This record gives sequence, C-alpha cells and structure tokens, in this order.
Amino acid sequence: MAFTPKLLMVDPSHFEVSYVINPWMKPGAWHEDPAGHLRQAQACSAALHQSLVDAGADVVMAPGAPGLPDMVFPANAAVVLDRRAIVARFACDERRGEEELFLKLFRSYEARGLFDTVVQYPEGIFQEGAGDALWDDSRQQFWAGYGQRSAKASLQVTEDFFNVPVVPLELINPRFYHLDTCFLVLSGGEILYYPPAFSAEGKALIEGLAGKENVLEATDEDAAAFSVNAVNFGKQIVMARPPASLKARLEERGYRVRSVDLDPFILSGGGAYCMTLRLNRSSAAAAQKAAAE
Ligand code: ARG
Repeated sequence: MAFTPKLLMVDPSHFEVSYVINPWMKPGAWHEDPAGHLRQAQACSAALHQSLVDAGADVVMAPGAPGLPDMVFPANAAVVLDRRAIVARFACDERRGEEELFLKLFRSYEARGLFDTVVQYPEGIFQEGAGDALWDDSRQQFWAGYGQRSAKASLQVTEDFFNVPVVPLELINPRFYHLDTCFLVLSGGEILYYPPAFSAEGKALIEGLAGKENVLEATDEDAAAFSVNAVNFGKQIVMARPPASLKARLEERGYRVRSVDLDPFILSGGGAYCMTLRLNRSSAAAAQKAAAE
C-alpha cells in the first residue's frame, strides 16, 4: 500500500432510527428499546473502528450532533480525491442539516493542510457524497449513482471539479438508493455488484468497462446483509457479516475479509462503507506528482 488509508467515522452517540427515508429504516423496531439499541450501536461502531485499524487504516473520529442521527454515515458527506473535497447536497430534509456541519469540518481540515480545496455542490443539485461516487483506482474514474438520492446533473459537476471521468449508473430500485449499497470496487480491479439495482444500460456499462472476468454478481442474500457496502484497501475488506459463500468467493481472489456485526446501522439502511469516508484517496496522476516532488 502506498500510504496508510485515513478514514473518517462519526461518533454514534446521537444515532437513532427516528424517521424513514429509505425502505430499510425501522423506527418502530428502534423505539422498542432505544437505550439498548444505542448501546449496541456504540459497541458495533467501536468494533468497526477496531477492525479498520486492525486492517491497517488510521481512523479519525468526528463528533455527531443531536437531531442528525444519520451523520454516522459520513460516506454521504462529500466526494474526496487528491486533497479536494466537494460537500454533499442532501435530497431529504431530514439530513440537510448535516451539510453545514460537514462543510465546517472539512474547512477545518483545509485549514490544517489536509485538503487544498473544499467546495459544495451547487444549490438544488442533489448529490450524496462518496455513497454515490465510488473511485475506481484500476480504471482512474468515478462510478456515479443517480436517480434516487443524487441528481444526474451532479455527475458533470463531479467531473469538472476533479477533472477525471465519471461513469453514470442509474439506480432503479429504491431499496438500493445509494450506489454503495449495491456496488463495490476492489483494489484488484474486480467489481462486486447487485444487478437488480441497475438499469440495462448500467449493467452493460459495468460489464463493458470492467470486463466480464472482473465482475462478481452479488446475490439477494449478499445485498440484504449489506455486505456489498464494504471498505476495501489493498487486500483488506471490512464488511457487515457476509454470507459464507460471499466471504469464500472474495478469499478465493486473495482478499482478507473481516466481518463486523453492524445490525443497528442496517436498521437505518447503512453498512461499513457508509460509516466511513476515505479522506486521503488519490488518483495515479496525483500519486506520481507527489512521488516526483
Ligand atoms: N439512513 C441513511 C439514509 O437513508 C443511511 C445512509 C447510508 N449511507 C450510504 N452511503 N448508503 O440516508
């Protein structure tokens, strides 16, 4: 690995499932035992943190805020590449308050020299961060989801801001409302994806650009376990408890799969990838430039 991955997580003290903005969210189940679920969520978040550290990452913890329970999913906060960050515009009112807090956080990173540039998507152009823009290091491009939370118009903004190709993938199934719920890019160039979440054009683009030999199809069970929503760097993969067959398929390809119980967060429709944001992702061009300096 060129350098240690730095991953943002958000402290889960204010996490709860209190509204429904995706079909997985179960406020009824949460409110049967809010204190118990919160305790369990804290334990699960700590286990994810530990698992990422064991895999070799640096984890940076940011505070959450009361009334903004979904801040625990910082993947949605921004798209980050090459020390540049573009902060989200949330489609749902329930999450809109997160924008100014994340903007403030990233400006503080800018002030500390971690980022060179921090901007935000234009008003009215919804885009929900790295949840809908997955960097593909093998192909030097973003795969971008649209049609649920992110607007198609956001893709051009992403392309212009980072000056890299952005491949559009329409999401057609409300259960897979962010690209990261149904699509995972692996360091070896493989793509794990759940076909029923995509349009025919999307599936053709994935197979065409990735090459059939690199495409792994996730099963209904893999998708429902939120295991596709995984964190990968090098040969390490951290994911919500996968079905045994998925773990075996990934291990066959040489990956080390670390499984974490993330059930309280799945009650909100999120898994391991959603709960993190890679802060030091860089393209090959930027890495080369850095090496030459
Ligand atoms: N409850 C959150 C929402 O619906 C979950 C977000 C999960 N994040 C993700 N990147 N898939 O917005």
